[in-house]
Amino acid sequence: MWRMRTGFIVTLLIVHNVLFGGFRPARSLAVRSNLEIVKQWKLFSYAFPQNAPVSDTNYYNPLTIVPTSMTVGYDRIYIATPKLFAGVPTTVSYVSKEDYSESPILRSYPDWSYTVSGRSSFNCSDSYLVSVYRMRIDSCNRLWILDAGVSRTFEDSEQTCQPKILVFDLNTDQVVRRIDIPRDVLRNQSILVNLIVDETSSISGTCDDVFVYIADTVRPAIIVYDGARDMMWRLSHPAMWPDPDLGLVQVLNDRFFIMDGIIGLAFDTVSGILYFQPLATDRIFSITKDALRAGPRRLHDILPIRFLGKKSSQGLPLYLAPQDGSLLFSPVTETAIVSWNPQTKQQAVLFYDVDALQFVADISASPWESGVVYAMSSKFNRFTLETVNKDEINFRLMRFKYPSRSAVSAQRLFTPSDQVRSPLYTNDENSIAFNSTGYRSGLERLVPTHTPAYSLEPSAKIYQFQGVKNGLHAFSGNSVPAAANIFQLSQLGRLGYSYSLGHSVN
Ligand SMILES: *[C@@H]1O[C@H](CO)[C@@H](O)[C@H](O)[C@H]1NC(C)=O
Ligand SMILES: *[C@@H]1O[C@H](CO)[C@@H](O)[C@H](O)[C@H]1NC(C)=O
Ligand SMILES: *[C@@H]1O[C@H](CO)[C@@H](O)[C@H](O)[C@H]1NC(C)=O
Repeated sequence: MWRMRTGFIVTLLIVHNVLFGGFRPARSLAVRSNLEIVKQWKLFSYAFPQNAPVSDTNYYNPLTIVPTSMTVGYDRIYIATPKLFAGVPTTVSYVSKEDYSESPILRSYPDWSYTVSGRSSFNCSDSYLVSVYRMRIDSCNRLWILDAGVSRTFEDSEQTCQPKILVFDLNTDQVVRRIDIPRDVLRNQSILVNLIVDETSSISGTCDDVFVYIADTVRPAIIVYDGARDMMWRLSHPAMWPDPDLGLVQVLNDRFFIMDGIIGLAFDTVSGILYFQPLATDRIFSITKDALRAGPRRLHDILPIRFLGKKSSQGLPLYLAPQDGSLLFSPVTETAIVSWNPQTKQQAVLFYDVDALQFVADISASPWESGVVYAMSSKFNRFTLETVNKDEINFRLMRFKYPSRSAVSAQRLFTPSDQVRSPLYTNDENSIAFNSTGYRSGLERLVPTHTPAYSLEPSAKIYQFQGVKNGLHAFSGNSVPAAANIFQLSQLGRLGYSYSLGHSVN
């Protein structure tokens, strides 16, 4: 026991010392579960312009403002707060990295003149930002802001302006490019939530001759933009759609449904593979950039989509670690961050925290901080159920070094589960996706030895279940079941085989 505890403390110290050697980072607040907390907020407050109608809850209602991504630049952190409800005063804000306070006040990006909130009339041809979910920084230090154009998505879902991309030069904060998304690649109710800027064949040095892959989550599709030819087309496939059986999301005791399609995107620049996942699914898929770039397809042409494998629950972000080609994702029910190496097919839990990792909405890296990965969690479950506790931390920006010494890297914590055969997928025996061995038998798996790398709370445990549904599930308090037996998962209504991890920390 003592050795375990010592081991854990040593791990923490190593993380503290090796992280962020070169670039001057924002000061961290604390280390929690080996995740370094960079910023955290109960709710957002803003440096409002004079005369802003802050007492009007249709203009500013902090209980309706939920971040979906945070993008870390050279000297600032950019925060996207889409207009899911009324009361969001600006959709893109920022805080300075030099602001060492725990919960800095947000400023509108680039300034308040770009927000439509509180305006009675405006011209959509001007550079207004309506509702933004995600942004990307390219290698020319420009911020690509994808504006879905829809206000109050969960209320009256008003199409305030057509969707567009505004590219800001972060050195000057000026718009240097505007890309309007043409109507013919949109559908009624399209909500554009994510984008990848693929620079792998860019030769101009200006980051203009890039390809952009855009996720439409409500009318599921990938919209491809060819920046050199200024052309756009729409590609769809059943793999981009939500699975109704997985429309119900569970985070701790919160249950709610989200039938969102494709949302997580990650691009491997070495292999040229785009990985993607709908929200309401337990699967991850991939497609090559060549297939995306090949142009529009006829209606019933089947896109060459690979089925990569299953995970334990739904999730939003995908992140590709350039160091080893691993995909990082966050199964929401397990409140964990997991890595998955598509080559070796090994999955490992990197971090687990029932509070800090509730509803991880974004995993990303900063072009300025090599080897550092940022994760942002939002307690979206509370916001959508209107049970927000404004006295507790609801939003956290955390970071860790990858590959992480704190990770359970040597552990085959769980391996991908059953193969899915379908003429919809192009998987073959030699592909990097699943082969026919199938990994069906859980009992053949390597059972992890006790690891001090989990900074589990004493009463919390992680279990891996095998059977009808494979996966990783976390329990704490009175719901912790006995280790290493077969039992009914009351909440999931299934049988599972379990063994415990982390009880040595106790
Ligand atoms: C909006 O701006 C565009 C471009 O400046 C202009 O052509 C158009 O007439 C304007 N629309 C309105 C309603 O003012
Ligand atoms: C979208 O719906 C509206 C009203 O329901 C309809 O008037 C419009 O034609 C539709 N647009 C498209 C592109 O289907
Ligand atoms: C399937 O993959 C496993 C793990 O990579 C490998 O050991 C096995 O030989 C593969 N089987 C076939 C039929 O390719």
